[in-house]
Amino acid sequence: MPTILGLSGSLRKASFNAGLLRAARDVAPDGTSIEIGEIHDVPLYDADDEKANGLPEAVKRLQSRLDAADALLMVSPEYNKSIPGVFKNTIDWMSRGDGLKYFTGKPVMLIGASPSGFGTILGQNAWLPVLRTLRTRLWTGGQLMVSGAGDKFDEDGNLTDGETRDQLRKLIAEFVKTL
Ligand code: FNR
Repeated sequence: MPTILGLSGSLRKASFNAGLLRAARDVAPDGTSIEIGEIHDVPLYDADDEKANGLPEAVKRLQSRLDAADALLMVSPEYNKSIPGVFKNTIDWMSRGDGLKYFTGKPVMLIGASPSGFGTILGQNAWLPVLRTLRTRLWTGGQLMVSGAGDKFDEDGNLTDGETRDQLRKLIAEFVKTL
C-alpha cells in the first residue's frame, strides 16, 4: 500500500492549497494513503541555531515521515510568480542533516491552486531547480494548476468544484501507478 507524504505550502486556515491537499487525500485510490504533514511549527532557517541545537523537532518529524513515505505530494501556492518563502523554508530545513538522502530518488507530484487565471504555473516552474538539486524524481506525467480558485473552494478552503476533483482523482491515480 503506497504511502504519500502530502505538504501544503500555505499557513492560511482557509488555504486553497491545503484544501486541494485534503481533496487529494480524499480521492486517492483505494489502498493509497496520503498523510498530511505539518509545516506550521517549522522555524525560520538559521544556520547558527542549527549549529548550536541541530535540527528542530518539527523538521526531524517531517524528515522521518518523508523517509517512510513512498512519494511526496507538494501543493504549492505561487507568490510573486515564484515559490512561497514559507514552503521553501520548510524544504530547505528538511534538506539539512541527512535530509538529502530522504529526497534522493523520491517520486514527487507537484500541484497548486491560485485565484489568478494561471493557477501557479510560474510557481511550479520555480520549484524545478530545487527538486532537481534535491535529486528527487519529479513526476511529469500530468499537471494540475487550479486557476480561479475563489470560485472552486468554499469559505473554509474545501474544494467544491467537481471538475477539479475529477482531474485530481485521475492525476493521482496515474501517479500512484508509477509507485
Ligand atoms: C500572492 N498571490 C499570487 N497569486 C498568483 O497566482 N501569482 C502570484 O504571483 C501571486 N503573488 C502573491 C504574493 C504574495 C506575497 C501573496 C501573499 C499572494 C495570491 C495567492 O495566490 C493567494 O493569496 C492564495 O490564496 C495563496 O494560496 P492559499 O494560501 O490560499 O493556499
